Amino acid sequence: MKLILLGAPGAGKGTQAKRLEEAYGIVQLSTGDMLRAEVASGSDIGKELKAVMEAGNLVTDDLIISMIASRVEQDDCKKGYILDGFPRTTAQAEALDKMLEDKGQKLDEVIEMVVDEDALVERITGRYTCADCGQGYHDSFQKPAKEGVCDKCGSGEFSRRADDNEETVRSRLVSYREQTAPIAEHYKAKGMLKTVDGMADIDEVTNQLKKILG
Ligand code: AP5
Ligand code: MG
Ligand code: ZN
Repeated sequence: MKLILLGAPGAGKGTQAKRLEEAYGIVQLSTGDMLRAEVASGSDIGKELKAVMEAGNLVTDDLIISMIASRVEQDDCKKGYILDGFPRTTAQAEALDKMLEDKGQKLDEVIEMVVDEDALVERITGRYTCADCGQGYHDSFQKPAKEGVCDKCGSGEFSRRADDNEETVRSRLVSYREQTAPIAEHYKAKGMLKTVDGMADIDEVTNQLKKILG
């Protein structure tokens, strides 16, 4: 199964992708996570990426497209994948179409998670992640059962993203409106776009997604 989760920053793409990975045995391909890993490596390219991401701008299409093209060749993608944060521009969507066509493959679903803009800032500024296993949390909406202890792996180390401050979020939302929102039309024109109510609580959104995916 190959699917795209579309949605604004903070819509819940990563949260739901992790749940779908477990439920369907497919892998989450988050371009944001891949870029953050490159930044963390301290490479020269990582330093350039860091500046772009902390300004809330998009990284160049060429870099993203080649990153995804090599990632989908890896063995763990054979059963399928969930694209989270890609495609994000019309050029990326067209490159993905071509990439799949060349392999004789197609997408199974393109699902947009619709969330009010006011809620996005609150979600992003309250987000944190387990530093050891990557499980996502939120100060108000998704707390660990025992405060300060990761539900999944028991770690007490958490981190917050450098781009999760209000100023950067505002510019990420501008990039989203101007460059990413239009790609919903790209898939709508192909008759592929489905939507879920991303304002519902986390379990309910998972249920809506599973209803579509079967
Ligand atoms: P990326 O990492 O993709 O960030 P993003 O798109 O801004 O999305 P987020 O990860 O912030 O949101 P999410 O939808 O995953 O929300 P989450 O599930 O965590 O990209 C970062 C940067 O990398 C970009 O700005 C750009 O510079 C660059 N980049 C990445 N891909 C690129 C590309 N293709 N091209 C060019 N540049 C690229 O949820 C958020 C919070 O809300 C969590 O705390 C969660 O617990 C909570 N939450 C989730 N669902 C709910 C719910 N239903 N109710 C209440 N709370 C909820
Ligand atoms: Mg994410
Ligand atoms: Zn953990």
